[in-house]
Amino acid sequence: MTDQTAALVAQIQAHAGSAPVKLGLILGSGLGHLAQAVQGVAIPYGDLPGFPHVGVSGHNPHLVIGDLEGVRVAVFGAREHYYENGNAAAMRLPLTVLKALGAEALIATNAAGSLRPDIRPGDLMLLNDHINFSGLNPLIGEKTDARFVPMTTAHDPDLRAALKASAKAVGVALPEGVYAWYSGPSFETPAEIRAIKILGGDAVGMSTVPEVILARFLGLKVAAISSITNMAAGMSDEQISHEHTKAMAPLGAAKLEQVLRHFLRTQL
Ligand code: HPA
Repeated sequence: MTDQTAALVAQIQAHAGSAPVKLGLILGSGLGHLAQAVQGVAIPYGDLPGFPHVGVSGHNPHLVIGDLEGVRVAVFGAREHYYENGNAAAMRLPLTVLKALGAEALIATNAAGSLRPDIRPGDLMLLNDHINFSGLNPLIGEKTDARFVPMTTAHDPDLRAALKASAKAVGVALPEGVYAWYSGPSFETPAEIRAIKILGGDAVGMSTVPEVILARFLGLKVAAISSITNMAAGMSDEQISHEHTKAMAPLGAAKLEQVLRHFLRTQL
């Protein structure tokens, strides 16, 4: 553990207690509500040296450590996206700290556009794989051989099965699909969406893939869920905008909360 990680762990445990965290959760655009459901301590990122300075509206930059459905969780109320500062590894330190706090797994959430007519705004999609459409990688510059991370089962089959079972139990549809990471911050063109479709993408968004890579690098199991806020560019007459994303995210957020609560209560 580096001195920086050790100092952050000591600081966080001084506030939140030293019982090990079991699971990390990253909340995407408009999905921050769940952080308030956690009984515990909220620490502003600004108080945690080296944590991202997140400037995206619709995100709540706090680390919340505490209990949700009887499981000790660490909730990241916001992420730094690549498009903010051009740093694909922006979430490396927070995820390193998560691992050092004892976590075994990470669930990342995001807002995304759908390329599938059967997955509509307000629906959830469980990522069964991803396409790194940006070509960027958070491990560029990493010097150890650990950088050669296998990604064949990056989206953990056991976690996925557990999340599917929870979704079924609470009556929420949770189709699986492939998420394509687009750097942003501009949205995609219709031609880019057609290209992603040909490549096998089912949803598109501006996050999550670097975190999945980092989580695997750190030895965390990982699963990710998209909350679909719109049909992707060129697929409907609706205007795509960040305002629209923030307005639509709560629809999926309510379903996400049901699935995650059941998952925590019964599967961990
Ligand atoms: N594209 C990229 N990111 C997104 C979208 C989209 O259509 N919707 C929400 N986040």
